[in-house]
Amino acid sequence: MDQKVSAQQASGITVTRVGANLGAEISGVDLRQPLDDTTFDAIQDALVENELIIFHDQEITSEQLMAFGRRFGNLSVHPFSPNDKDVPELIKFANDANNAPFGTDVWHSDETFRESPPMATVLCAKEVPAVGGDTMYASMTAAFEGLSDRMQQFISGLEAVHDFKPFKKLFANTPEDRKNLQHFEMLYPPAIHPVVRVHPVTGRKVLFVNPQFTMAIKDMDERESRSLLDTLFYQALVPEYQFRHHWKPHTIAMWDNRSTQHYAIHDYYPQRRIMERVTIAGDRPTGVEAADPNTVRRFKFKAPENVDHHGGHAPQRQFRRELEKAED
Ligand code: OGA
Ligand code: MN
Repeated sequence: MDQKVSAQQASGITVTRVGANLGAEISGVDLRQPLDDTTFDAIQDALVENELIIFHDQEITSEQLMAFGRRFGNLSVHPFSPNDKDVPELIKFANDANNAPFGTDVWHSDETFRESPPMATVLCAKEVPAVGGDTMYASMTAAFEGLSDRMQQFISGLEAVHDFKPFKKLFANTPEDRKNLQHFEMLYPPAIHPVVRVHPVTGRKVLFVNPQFTMAIKDMDERESRSLLDTLFYQALVPEYQFRHHWKPHTIAMWDNRSTQHYAIHDYYPQRRIMERVTIAGDRPTGVEAADPNTVRRFKFKAPENVDHHGGHAPQRQFRRELEKAED
């Protein structure tokens, strides 16, 4: 039996895939309780394998959410997100008529402006709007796989510059805040990450640029960089690589921040949406070497012109029938 399947069975959890390229629901576990090693291993395997895991009906306290997160590693503190004043690791999004959501309605993976971006993020819904407020996810593994061989080769070995630029809006244009901003620019200088990242657990290749934090391709002319980035950013927009998650109160979603991007749909204002989040620290991304141009796959899919028209399996098209009639 598959080792992962047996680990799942031993732990008693059930993992049900819900999206074609990413996303699974996990049942049979109570996240209020400390996880035994078998259950923890099964959940961690499910996270890496499915890239996004979802737990329903988990009415847990902030402390329990943090304990769950800590099982995976150290919790990191986001320098710019709204957080709890006593517990800085706990992010609190409390959006309503007086506090419009800010900064999450752009495709991104979390905090790639850091030299070592988070490994994973755990988000827990406390109150959800009657309509709207879904979160979109994209598998950047599928997004990379969907590029042509030539594009995969071209971007392999490239590096990109990531920066916390979108959060600079939080600083006022005053002498004092300009100085404050400088302080954070020193703390978080632009980070250089590989454009094609190798997932440290699965070894899969991942497209690792995002429109929120990726500013430029290193060592490229600005115009080249812009058009290449636009092409690569487009990959997260492809519906086939996406999964749309609808929140209910007490749903918890955890995503592998190394292999996914997400986008919080800001369509619910002025309704209330209350979420809590913890973030698990990660490692420095590792890239791939420049690719060997002799490794071109011949076809991503079998192209229609290569289908055997006389084998009886290809769909018959009118133009072909007319051609055949003309031959007789
Ligand atoms: C985040 C984020 C998504 C959401 O927590 O990193 O982008 O749906 N939030 O609120
Ligand atoms: Mn985010």
